[in-house]
Amino acid sequence: MSKKDYSKYSKEELIKLIKGLEKQRYGLVWEDKPEEVADRCSTELPVLVEDKSKEIITDKNLPTNILIEGDNYHALYTLNFTHKKKIDLIIIDPPYNIGGDFMYNDKIVDKEDRYRHSKWLSFMKKRLQLARNLLKDTGAIFITIDDAEAAHLKVLCDEIFLPQNFIAQICWQKKFSPQNDATYFSDMHDFVLVYAKKAKTKKTDKGGFNLFGLERTEEMNDRYSNPDNDPRGDWTSGDFSVKTYSEEYDYSITTPSGRFVHPPAGYSWRTSFQRLQEMIADNRIWFGEHGNNVPRIKRFLSEVKEDVTPTTWWTHEKVGHNQEAKQELKQILPDAEAVFDTPKPVRLIKRILELATSPDKPSVVLDFFAGSGTTAHAVLEQNDKDGGKRQFILVTNNESQIASNICYPRIKRAIGGYDYQGNLDTLLFEEKLTLAKLKKCEKIYSKYQEIRQLNADKYDELKGELKNNMVKLWGAKKNLTHSPGLGGNLKYFKTDFVPQVLTDNDKRVLVARSTELLCLAEGTFDPVRQNKKDFAIFENAHQYTAIIYDEDAITKCKKAMQKLDGSKPISIYVFSYDYTYYEDDFEDISNVVKIKPIPEAILNVYRKIAKYKKR
Ligand SMILES: C[S@@+](CC[C@H](N)C(=O)[O-])C[C@H]1O[C@@H](n2cnc3c(N)ncnc32)[C@H](O)[C@@H]1O
Repeated sequence: MSKKDYSKYSKEELIKLIKGLEKQRYGLVWEDKPEEVADRCSTELPVLVEDKSKEIITDKNLPTNILIEGDNYHALYTLNFTHKKKIDLIIIDPPYNIGGDFMYNDKIVDKEDRYRHSKWLSFMKKRLQLARNLLKDTGAIFITIDDAEAAHLKVLCDEIFLPQNFIAQICWQKKFSPQNDATYFSDMHDFVLVYAKKAKTKKTDKGGFNLFGLERTEEMNDRYSNPDNDPRGDWTSGDFSVKTYSEEYDYSITTPSGRFVHPPAGYSWRTSFQRLQEMIADNRIWFGEHGNNVPRIKRFLSEVKEDVTPTTWWTHEKVGHNQEAKQELKQILPDAEAVFDTPKPVRLIKRILELATSPDKPSVVLDFFAGSGTTAHAVLEQNDKDGGKRQFILVTNNESQIASNICYPRIKRAIGGYDYQGNLDTLLFEEKLTLAKLKKCEKIYSKYQEIRQLNADKYDELKGELKNNMVKLWGAKKNLTHSPGLGGNLKYFKTDFVPQVLTDNDKRVLVARSTELLCLAEGTFDPVRQNKKDFAIFENAHQYTAIIYDEDAITKCKKAMQKLDGSKPISIYVFSYDYTYYEDDFEDISNVVKIKPIPEAILNVYRKIAKYKKR
């Protein structure tokens, strides 16, 4: 890099430089490396083209999901027109930049590349800026990352989403067994970085991103029981003493057996003496089975908060691990593993969906580094589980045919169902270990061995297990299993280009190629009238979209509109060289809710992005 000779700068140039430095508060400084895919947008404009042959429809009442094949910079450009402030949740798993996993200007960036962090930051900044525009004010972004770029990504996100919108940096335990050949530490975790578009300052704030609690698990509920047959049901007990000392709360309690008890030194009881008497009368204090123990408070399962506050520690038992992700992909697409080896587990993405979206409200989930399509799979499974109406929009390039040979077939099979070689497990032996049973340990073990030998030839594999004090023996048989389809609809688009609009003819070209963009923006995909050069009409269950490619076809299009269902609103996009709205022309059609000139409506968005790019 050549050194700059400031002595040759003019006074104006130096003032500009100083002003720039004054503006810089703190943050990352890197050499911005030009990117060909971004530069392409100064001479051409991105559009979308549908590949009709890949459309999947199983149930019109379910949301229409979208898969876009192409560079995500171009896809995000188009989504800025179709989905500005419409996305509820973004989940991305970008290349980690660990050397060999990240392409810049069509070249793999390796570990020795001196500019590898600069390239990665330039790449991510452009995409995150475009992505931020898509989030609703209640939306959030979850980004998986590891140590290679975690620190840089955090500072970059502070710049783009602002520090006050930082929500958490979650630690996900991606591996379950340590790597003993590690030079120093065996790396067991990745991070999930979370930013809201607009974070609440306190839980009760209206508006902003809302984090839902986690469903209580059976395991949590198992800690409750009812040893005294309390009519309020299962309970567990908690400490009646607290560490903050107060003289008033330091009194003697007589247990039912007649013993006097005091709080431990430096502690006092949790309530006043009078409140304790009320609680004893209400059978809310537990002195143990024989009434002789230090008092404890009974906490009833029926009274605990319904869901659980999530923590930033996500174990592999709860959300899966790398190996599980590979097995999932292998199960649904047996040949995929050889091509793609860095998927995320479905359970990890489902945990994010559970926390950041609700089954009671339709929501749109975007993943613009979709890879093998785990996010799609997780959205379909989560909707199936809780009856939610989440829609996914996935974007992936076609590196090693990942879009066409992995992501799309995976979604297709998840929607339609598939056969796979699975394990059918039969429980052959089960024994709970208690202190009393330890004496009979040898007897239990020889019984276990006996059953093992008896079944050795009957199963493909015998699996022993010791978990939660239970000894189990499973017999596993490989069998052809069918995974039923989760249902859903999909449209497949590819990014494409038209020339940058410089002439009136370029305007006509962009409008002629804008049908998919407009249908996607409005969510109306069913043609009422199509394949004509002058105008087209599309619909969904709730509305129509009319696209008038030629201003001379307004009268003809109006005639067609008069035949439509008058209770459904119509959005109209009408060709105009000079941004005119033609509002008067549609005054007599009462269900028209929106009229926009094209290509101006699209160009306006694209111009803003181009300005943004220069910042
Ligand atoms: C780490 S993988 C994501 C894996 C994904 N989470 C899964 O479970 O399968 C990143 C993916 O992003 C894709 N990708 C990388 N750069 C891209 C770009 N500029 N545009 C679109 N996709 C890109 C790669 O092809 C790769 O499949």
